[in-house]
Amino acid sequence: MSARFPVARPRRLRRTPALRRLVAETRLAPADLVLPMFVKEGLGEPAPIASMPGVYQHTRDSLRKAAHEAVEAGVGGLILFGIPAVKDAAGSGADAPDGVVQTALRDLASDLGDAAVVMTDLCLDEFTDHGHCGLLTDAGEIDNDATLERYASVAVAQARAGADVVAPSGMMDGQVAAIRAALDGAGFPELPILGYSAKYASAYYGPFRDAAECAPRFGDRATHQQDPANADESIREILLDLEEGADMVMVKPAGAYLDVVRRVRDTVDVPVAAYQVSGEYAMIEAAARNGWLDRERTIDESLIAIRRAGADIVLTYWATEVAQRLAR
Ligand code: PBG
Repeated sequence: MSARFPVARPRRLRRTPALRRLVAETRLAPADLVLPMFVKEGLGEPAPIASMPGVYQHTRDSLRKAAHEAVEAGVGGLILFGIPAVKDAAGSGADAPDGVVQTALRDLASDLGDAAVVMTDLCLDEFTDHGHCGLLTDAGEIDNDATLERYASVAVAQARAGADVVAPSGMMDGQVAAIRAALDGAGFPELPILGYSAKYASAYYGPFRDAAECAPRFGDRATHQQDPANADESIREILLDLEEGADMVMVKPAGAYLDVVRRVRDTVDVPVAAYQVSGEYAMIEAAARNGWLDRERTIDESLIAIRRAGADIVLTYWATEVAQRLAR
């Protein structure tokens, strides 16, 4: 008679919210989340980003306020992107001592002290008039090795202004080694590097390029960012960055690359970050605005999926909101 009934009943552990919470394999905590923030030089009022509802280009003051709010909510860190008032071919604003990011770093260091990990995106694309991530040759191609010298200088400028972590995102060969050597030489041997190690040439960055005003004037990023078809290549990039001295590594985007996140997690023994990028944000916000998805549930599911795939740290534009919700 008992043989007519299932012996194993996985549903037993799903019966109540309390049971489900007890047996959850993956958890999301405010400390896992990093908030990407945009700050624009010379801006009078915070400027909403049309393709990223709820996200702003910040003024110097509104950045301080939003950073404070994020830290109050318990987020693990912030990562800064700067938009300079003037752009040029060399991206001079990126390492100017009074450049937009350096100024913001000093503000946040004085406001927040050690209460938050303030990271910087380290690239040139927001600062160059052509919108590319590096210096160009006369033929209009990216000059990898000349760009490394610029990245080294930007790293030192960001370190001097008080960055807690620098995160090179340009996908130039040798960038982590060049930055590590420059930081060590300038007296910052203890400043960690988060490598955007496995970064794909992704259409999901579309809204970001509005936010950071950095769409390339011509061409694209396919000669340096990875082909979405490749996963083994990510392992190679990750291992190279670790050899060059990266302290943490990142996979980007997150949602469409969860297999890569998992493989990286299983391969390395350093913290793994994943970046839920602007397009991932925009898709869910747009669908929710149409009433096609339950906004909060979809956001939470998208984030737990990234954690479940193996990311320790998740960069997300929803960091403050989700951290506040988790604290309730
Ligand atoms: C490069 C950089 C980009 C993003 C983060 N750092 C743009 C790019 O590589 O084209 C994209 C982030 C996002 O889409 O949210 N500085």
